[in-house]
Amino acid sequence: MGKTIVVVGGQWGDEGKGKVVDFLAEKADVIARATGGNNAGHTVVVGDKTYKFHLLPSGVIHPTKLSICGNGMVIDPKVIIKEITTLEQDNIAVSDKTLNISSTAHVITQEQIDEDLATGKKVGTTGRGIGPCYMAKFNRDGLRMSEFVQQESQEARKLKPFVKDSYLVINKAIEQGKNILVEGAQGTMLDIDHGTYPFVTSSNPTAGGACTGLGIGPTKISKVIAIVKAYTTRVGRGPFPTELGTDEQTTAEGTWDNIKQNFETELKDALKKANDGDQYYQGKAMRLIGREYGTTTGRARRTGWYDAIVTRYAVRVNGLTSIAITKLDVLTGLKTIKVCTGYEIDGKIVQDLPMHDLEKAKPVYEDMPGWEEDLTDVTSFEQLPDNAKDYVKRIEELATVPISILSIGPKRSQTIILDGKELF
Ligand code: GDP
Ligand code: IMO
Ligand code: MG
Repeated sequence: MGKTIVVVGGQWGDEGKGKVVDFLAEKADVIARATGGNNAGHTVVVGDKTYKFHLLPSGVIHPTKLSICGNGMVIDPKVIIKEITTLEQDNIAVSDKTLNISSTAHVITQEQIDEDLATGKKVGTTGRGIGPCYMAKFNRDGLRMSEFVQQESQEARKLKPFVKDSYLVINKAIEQGKNILVEGAQGTMLDIDHGTYPFVTSSNPTAGGACTGLGIGPTKISKVIAIVKAYTTRVGRGPFPTELGTDEQTTAEGTWDNIKQNFETELKDALKKANDGDQYYQGKAMRLIGREYGTTTGRARRTGWYDAIVTRYAVRVNGLTSIAITKLDVLTGLKTIKVCTGYEIDGKIVQDLPMHDLEKAKPVYEDMPGWEEDLTDVTSFEQLPDNAKDYVKRIEELATVPISILSIGPKRSQTIILDGKELF
């Protein structure tokens, strides 16, 4: 019997889903995206090479596996063709044996991109036409892949061989006992139903979206893993209880291109001020060390301490069986690390996430001692410094589900399995 594992983002996106999916893909036969479009930016590092995927599943670099873009996705033909062409230039062959695009996925049009660019500012969208495309879909007025590829255009001709009834392909694979890996995009807190509405995306990145977005039933899903950073980040506007500094301060820093010239000086300065207790610089240190600048837009990501309330919320709305913690290495050098274990709202302490009052939530923190040692060469949990071990154990305790994977760097080798029975 094969397994179907769904990977979702446990926070506000950019948790390292691409990295973990690439790691898990080794044992998968089919890797499928179910929701979202090229608002996603998933990074996979293999040796010296860095791949950035927006539409193609991160499994596509494994030449013997089948990647699927599911019916729940919204696809910009130009962008997917560019991704396919880039892979071909890297000598990774893409054929209808390695890539299927659902015939019922929706197609993003130029008008929808223009509309998003004109109206998306209040949410801080990625400007890729995602919201308007889903609007057209739900208004029963959208363009599906099956229709698009009937048109007379170079793009239609290029994509036609890949377009299949992917519900059938994936269900047959399940029936044949294959291992299926569903690559979530975005994150739980960006879900149209379960996120910080209206500061959300227009799809369901939570686990339920894997079923509707691929045409597989909930009874077929074996495990649901959320990827969770060892701290928190958010791009775009909206509530973020554990944010360090303000959205305005972060935006004023500019993009990675501005920062990188003075990286070393900026980092030294940020770490010093962080360890003197300045909150904005604690967040800035995470941003610099973690390279928290968007894959899709280059925007500086807002940063904050780890929020155990958000993770427990993700445990519930996704039915998580485990979490994978990423970017633990980024916290090296911070003298004190804080974990949010509750919120104070109007003088009351709550431990369950209140959707409507999140703007008012003041985080309640537990302080934990940090560590100085570089973690990026560590190969087992035992090798971690004691304070890092305690931090991880505390996260697990607060999450109420096991940590299956610990990631301490962007490379495949910088991955530690903590609970193998939660994986393939
Ligand atoms: P995704 O959208 O969830 O796939 O995440 P992104 O790719 O947008 O952002 C995660 C970034 O962190 C990428 O640049 C990854 O290469 C990098 N990354 C992933 N895991 C780790 C880790 O454990 N440590 C460090 N330092 N970087 C990581
Ligand atoms: P990955 O898959 C982080 C955010 C945008 C904006 C909001 C709505 O890489 O984790 P949209 O363009 O979807 O209408 O924008 O959602 N957003 C993401 N933030 N990671 C993502 O994807 C995101 N996809 C959308 O910044 O706040
Ligand atoms: Mg991303």
